[in-house]
Amino acid sequence: QGTVLRDETSQSWDVFGYEEAQFILRNHAHFSSERTARGQGGPGNYAPSILNLDPPRHTQLRRLINLAFTPKAIAAFQPHIEAITASLLDDIVKETGGKAGEIDLVDALAYPLPVIVIAEMLGVPAADREKFKRWSDLLVEGPADLRAETLADLVARRAAGRKELDDYFRDIVDVHRQKDDNTLIGALIAAQIENESLSLEELISFCVLLLAAGNETTTNLIVGAWRCLLEHPETMAMLRENPALVDGVIEETLRYYSPVQATSRIVTQDIEVGGQQFAKGDRVVVWLGAANRDARVFEDPDQFIPTRSPNHHMAFGHGIHFCLGAPLAKLEARAAILAMLSRMEDISAVETVLAPIVSGFVYGVKSFPIE
Ligand code: HEM
Repeated sequence: QGTVLRDETSQSWDVFGYEEAQFILRNHAHFSSERTARGQGGPGNYAPSILNLDPPRHTQLRRLINLAFTPKAIAAFQPHIEAITASLLDDIVKETGGKAGEIDLVDALAYPLPVIVIAEMLGVPAADREKFKRWSDLLVEGPADLRAETLADLVARRAAGRKELDDYFRDIVDVHRQKDDNTLIGALIAAQIENESLSLEELISFCVLLLAAGNETTTNLIVGAWRCLLEHPETMAMLRENPALVDGVIEETLRYYSPVQATSRIVTQDIEVGGQQFAKGDRVVVWLGAANRDARVFEDPDQFIPTRSPNHHMAFGHGIHFCLGAPLAKLEARAAILAMLSRMEDISAVETVLAPIVSGFVYGVKSFPIE
């Protein structure tokens, strides 16, 4: 069974093996992230976000942005994340009386939590979150089928959505320029690289990236973790006994139901990987979800084992583009799982057959009814 295969339909390479995936993501000189802004609204006059940049610009921007995402800065947000979770749960508990009564976990908690958190970090009104949902759905949505008109329709809708987002953030940045504040946007406006500030386009692209990269993914992590717990009642019982197991549950969910299934790169020089010859200009799709189930690295890869140690999954990528928001996503998942466990005595899934969201690279379900 090959770990690197040619996909003639999409004219690209598919990489499934763990070692090969790590090799590619580590080797950014041979595998570039500077590609057309595919999946982000199509080509346009937008500044590329850090996700689509190579060094040296990537290094400069990442260093600057890292300042706002230090473990200390994220940890300082913990009480706030817990408070937001508690208030969303108050609404659920009111609705269900602590048990009995059906709710959709996606709508009730897993979607609003990351959106409210990122909106507050950025300094945009949480009241705009319905708009956010529409925009972030659009940024990760894949085509329902491969007919030319379906693809053209998606590209047009995405371009329109991206334009709306751009206008939206342009106004927000303007408002923040007028005042001295301690929001993330405020910090980015004030930040300088070699005496140069970020351009308005770079600021907007970063805001759009946070929205696209941080919301749907974290929603899917929270829902994925609950799916795993409800599919494995013995783990749920262990977790109720010993809440410290929550970190293992989160890491194993990231491996088992990886929210980001794939990322891609462009080959910069001819190179061999996994016995296949890649040519300069080839597109390579790295299947993180498959690498996370590589039997050469993970024993019983198709089993959910929250005590797995070590668990070096690649759900957050690898190398210089390693997910900036990983600590934040884990903190939110932790808060959501522990608060639900302590507030709701009896939780069960209403349906076991769930509809996946339509996306080429994000994995999750549209809704998850529980009671
Ligand atoms: C990058 C996954 C949550 C911000 C990445 C990459 C992956 C990933 C796989 C690397 C992509 C590549 O190499 O091409 C995830 C998952 C998440 C999550 C699975 C949730 C469970 C977040 C959150 C934020 C965020 C909450 C921010 C609020 C970013 C940014 C990058 C990134 C800014 C680009 C980093 C760079 O290019 O240097 N993420 N992410 N992510 N993520 Fe996340």
